[in-house]
Amino acid sequence: MNEPLPDGGMVRKLWIGETDAYRDHLLRLDSESRHRRFSGAVSDETIARHAATAKGLGVVVYGFFVDGVLRGAAELRQIGSLFSHEAEAAFSIEKPWQSHGVGSALLERTLLTARNRGIKSLRMDCLAENQRMQQLARKFDAEFSFDFGSVVGEVDPPRSTLLSVMREASADTHAIAGRIFEVQSRLFRPT
Ligand SMILES: CC(C)(COP(=O)(O)OP(=O)(O)OC[C@H]1O[C@@H](n2cnc3c(N)ncnc32)[C@H](O)[C@@H]1OP(=O)(O)O)[C@@H](O)C(=O)NCCC(=O)NCCS
Repeated sequence: MNEPLPDGGMVRKLWIGETDAYRDHLLRLDSESRHRRFSGAVSDETIARHAATAKGLGVVVYGFFVDGVLRGAAELRQIGSLFSHEAEAAFSIEKPWQSHGVGSALLERTLLTARNRGIKSLRMDCLAENQRMQQLARKFDAEFSFDFGSVVGEVDPPRSTLLSVMREASADTHAIAGRIFEVQSRLFRPT
């Protein structure tokens, strides 16, 4: 989880109130990436509506930030109730930052969070021709079966451990410290 990210970027969870940044990131995706992210053509309005729902207890979005701008995201959404063991995950990286390990970093954190929430089955709706997403999923210790263009992975191991909960909490604490530092640096930057 400590591999360097491109352009000195950082990964952290999005906070309540950052759904606009998520919408703007999704709207910046080039047409091919947008098509792959949503498994088909979607309008700007649909994207805006979707981003607005990315808050609340059942949704966790990890973001990849460069200079304070969201350039990549992984969305984990529980299916059904908060106690459900099923969730879906979706990934989006803006083109210049693709193929630089950002998706791997985001998936790694998403799997940690999924485990800590007791999620046993993780669905990734992904077009059959999306080799890169499938390669990415295969890199992790999950077992995947392919079915009509969608990928369903069993998160392994399905139970959280004290260590996995601590790893997630530690990453969150670092992210908060990093954010405070970022805000302070901007405040004291000479004009
Ligand atoms: C799919 C996506 C999330 C992958 O993220 P990424 O940051 O580009 O991927 P990574 O750099 O972490 O690479 C992951 C693996 O994909 C494979 N890969 C990377 N670049 C590739 C390329 N250009 N062609 C084929 N496979 C590639 C490699 O196996 C790589 O693992 P490795 O570097 O250890 O060999 C990202 O490209 C993206 O957002 N694409 C558009 C939207 C999308 O397809 N979303 C998925 C639907 S949910």
